Amino acid sequence: MSVKRVTASAPGKVTLFGEHAVVYGEPALVASIGRRVYVTVELRGDDNVRIVASDLQVPGVTVTFSGDELVVETDYGRALSAISYLKTAVELVSKYLNTFRGVNIFVRSEMPVGAGLGTSAAVTVATVLAYSRVLGYELDRREIARLGWEVEKAVQGLASPMDTSITTFGGVLRVKLLDGRNYEVREVLKSCDLPIVIGYVEREAKTKDLVLKVKNLKDRYPGIIDNIIRTIGLVVNEAEKALLNNDLNLLGELMNINQGLLDALGVCNKRLSDLIYAARTAGALGSKITGAGGGGCVIALAPGCQERVEVAMKLSGGLTLKTSLGGPGATVNTVESTSP
Ligand code: PMV
Repeated sequence: MSVKRVTASAPGKVTLFGEHAVVYGEPALVASIGRRVYVTVELRGDDNVRIVASDLQVPGVTVTFSGDELVVETDYGRALSAISYLKTAVELVSKYLNTFRGVNIFVRSEMPVGAGLGTSAAVTVATVLAYSRVLGYELDRREIARLGWEVEKAVQGLASPMDTSITTFGGVLRVKLLDGRNYEVREVLKSCDLPIVIGYVEREAKTKDLVLKVKNLKDRYPGIIDNIIRTIGLVVNEAEKALLNNDLNLLGELMNINQGLLDALGVCNKRLSDLIYAARTAGALGSKITGAGGGGCVIALAPGCQERVEVAMKLSGGLTLKTSLGGPGATVNTVESTSP
């Protein structure tokens, strides 16, 4: 019997502390979330690869009425960008295993794509897992995470192994890049019940552009920006201790410090700031961007006031997302075989 169809899934993530600085070798704390991307890969009889992305929840649907005409201006660029991760995942896994088969790939997402919840890494890792399994291989998690990172680097240029690690392993991780090829991943917690609210606004820039923006700033003001990046690393180390001691007041304060430093890196914008300050005014102990910024997501630590913070974010023009933190990493959900 050989495998003919595999469905794998992988979770989204929120960066609790340390985004951007992680690209330059500082540690980051990152948690998986309870929303997943599902990828089904089925063998075809030929050498073609067909991608069907029926539900990528692309945010920011814009509809304009022009006379009698209805114009839908949804940003399909985001869906297309998700598709380049799928295509590259198939190419790199084929190269790694030295085997290629034509496949149909079906993708479904339980979270908005391109909003800063690590969907590109989740799509990538679920594809690596499902495609390698359909080819008859059982890769271990380290191989899957590494291949996922290679895909992200190939598509994005600069990328840290943070998103691909968390979507592969799940839980709460500390991730640190050692050099261009090596990195450390340590599990901080298996599960996590921090009272978080996630808010999001439409993204104006891609991760790749924001990472480049920080790089340009760093090239222009190395003395200043290097210190900001190092300081973010110090915040992350304190945050890890606060998380392990469940000291929410300290965690909130450190989130606000991290946010100030991200703002100094130029990755925040007015809409994100509105959400961040609305959350604090509504009682959150701390709030910050999560992910690359430039729009996308914020997180707020809101013990005893999650609903109030959600309402405040909505009134400030954001959408909110309910989910748990620290769920399981990538997994194979179903394997169907051809009958003998
Ligand atoms: O917004 P996201 O989920 O694409 O996160 C990007 C995180 C960065 O640290 C800005 C980049 C990276 O590769 O780690």
